[in-house]
Amino acid sequence: PETGCLSIIVLGASGDLAKKKTFPALYHLFKQGFLQSHEVHIFGYARTKLSDEGLRDRIRGYLSKGEDGESEDLVNFLHLIKYVSGSYDQEEGFVLLDKEISRHESLRNIQVGTSRRLFYLALPPSVYPSVCKMIRSYCMNQSDLGGWTRIVVEKPFGKDLSSAEELSSHLGELFTESQLYRIDHYLGKELVQNLLVLRFANRLFMPLWNRDNIANIQIVFREDFGTEGRGGYFDQYGIIRDIIQNHLLQVFCLVAMEKPVSLKPEYIRDEKVKVLQSVLPIAPEDVVLGQYDGYKDDPTVSQDSNTPTFASVVLRIHNERWEGVPFILKAGKALNSRKAEIRVQFKDVPGDIFKCQSQGRNEFVIRLQPSEAMYMKLTVKKPGLEMSTIQSELDLSYGQRYQGVQIPEAYERLILDTIRGDQQHFVRRDELKAAWEIFTPLLHKIDGGEIKSLPYKPGSRGPAEADELLAKAGYVQTHGYIWIPPTL
Ligand code: BG6
Repeated sequence: PETGCLSIIVLGASGDLAKKKTFPALYHLFKQGFLQSHEVHIFGYARTKLSDEGLRDRIRGYLSKGEDGESEDLVNFLHLIKYVSGSYDQEEGFVLLDKEISRHESLRNIQVGTSRRLFYLALPPSVYPSVCKMIRSYCMNQSDLGGWTRIVVEKPFGKDLSSAEELSSHLGELFTESQLYRIDHYLGKELVQNLLVLRFANRLFMPLWNRDNIANIQIVFREDFGTEGRGGYFDQYGIIRDIIQNHLLQVFCLVAMEKPVSLKPEYIRDEKVKVLQSVLPIAPEDVVLGQYDGYKDDPTVSQDSNTPTFASVVLRIHNERWEGVPFILKAGKALNSRKAEIRVQFKDVPGDIFKCQSQGRNEFVIRLQPSEAMYMKLTVKKPGLEMSTIQSELDLSYGQRYQGVQIPEAYERLILDTIRGDQQHFVRRDELKAAWEIFTPLLHKIDGGEIKSLPYKPGSRGPAEADELLAKAGYVQTHGYIWIPPTL
């Protein structure tokens, strides 16, 4: 691996994302030895006037979760953090930032070469253009030292196709595609990363993974809390832009795409783009939107808001593998449970001699969270003297099978990839464009009030119409069977 001076600059250092995700991920990497004190320096940058100690105080509590008191690691890690304050669109702050980074580099470079600069934009996208321009003008790595400058950005990347394209061209004028890392943290989840292995390293799945055998596929995200505290942001975007167009669509790509030529990031992303481009325009009858009661009690949400907090959308792929197989992407806030899973439902067995069809269909379920697991729902002979059948499962529950294995946080893994220069789990510009092409016409209809969000009770399954849509798409619910995760 590369060595040399590494500066990680977290812009928006006092914001929510930085505190809750970025700094804790960096801390975990530090604890595991991926960030070495003799090479790394971390800079926080934001508008608030703060001392170094002031920033450390703000994030300390988020880092020490689960630790007793202040560990030595924590003290050492906090010691690596420096704070620089400045605005997001004036040169002074960025000139100062560059000075601080360079000072650190010249100290470190006594022993090591290279200038590696990783800028993590934990910022609202409205300031991306100006911040990127400032970085490009004042903060690039010192090329005489070698190394690189990389920029990590988070969604929302625009609000629709044209605003996203505008942002992309703007960033594209400043940085090459290989310098840009568009994070979608779902791509850092263990079971999402497992999808390629499952599909392409197992003979078992290859012949089954197509329209001949699969009846429908659901990709579902549920949260059992509402938009508390972020209603103002959420009301501008809604659940489709917040979850479906990015997180669920990325999962969709990995489930539906063809086998890449190799694991080279470009080959993988080529396949993702191809399957996205094969998605047919979304039909209005394939959409159910919901908004939970009480959503508008948030003073930052507009009173006549039609913004969906729940959506179920059927995608249809026009290609040889998937013609006729509905992919139901469903996401909702304030529902009855918190989980994310992929549910592949197989077709009925032709010529059923056991008369067991009504019991349920085979399903392969990949539970992304909580409690990572995969299980295959099967019909088996009910143990005993009678020849009768029952629904059961082959179960791979990670907590049980991999006891003592710590599954890394998505952000942790992805930040490590940005340091290593691996873009496999990041969204390429053309992929983003293809994703917006799918959802933009629908989003414009919703924004224009042409499709209404139906009310649903917080703590429920969402609007009943969504279950009807699911049934219409051909999903057959198994009654009376509940998968029980094994206890340790
Ligand atoms: C974020 C969304 O991208 O993902 C949030 O903006 C959502 O609304 C979150 O709560 C869910 O992430 P996770 O990893 O908890 O499933």
